[in-house]
Amino acid sequence: MRRAVCPGSFDPVTLGHLDIIERAARLYDEVYVAVFMNASKGGLFEVEERLEMLEEVTADHPNVIIDSFQGLVVDYCKSREIEVVIKGIRAVSDFDYELSMAQMNHGLSGVDTLFMPTNRLYSFLSSSLVKDVAKWGGDVSAHVPQTVARRLVARLREQ
Ligand code: PNS
Repeated sequence: MRRAVCPGSFDPVTLGHLDIIERAARLYDEVYVAVFMNASKGGLFEVEERLEMLEEVTADHPNVIIDSFQGLVVDYCKSREIEVVIKGIRAVSDFDYELSMAQMNHGLSGVDTLFMPTNRLYSFLSSSLVKDVAKWGGDVSAHVPQTVARRLVARLREQ
């Protein structure tokens, strides 16, 4: 069984993430999409909500497994017998940081990282940008799945 993980904050999942997840699901038998909990990075959505959104938007992909974890990516990989970490690279600006993480992870446990070029339609997209646009009433429907757009509007209305 060939397994890969797409790790991230997913606060919230965007169409850019979804594109990477779907392409990874064509390459591997099982793709784990793991929400990593980062205490220093306060989120707009609770981890449970991020998981719900990920479940909803990947429901058509039976080999995609939604999960969460607190700790190192390499420990997560060991616990699920995952050999490969998949990371989307949007632009050169992503590369330095991703390269250092990939090298650290490989040095720690031999896990490999596969860099997947982001679809050019989403090369500017990030969860942070989406949240900022939505916060000021901008339309993010071209950037996130419908269910996420609805939840963003509802969450920001509450605040
Ligand atoms: O969506 P993000 O916020 O860019 O995701 C970052 C994430 C979760 C992939 C990164 O912070 C991470 O790998 N965290 C897990 C902790 C870890 O393994 N740190 C060492 C990496 S070398």
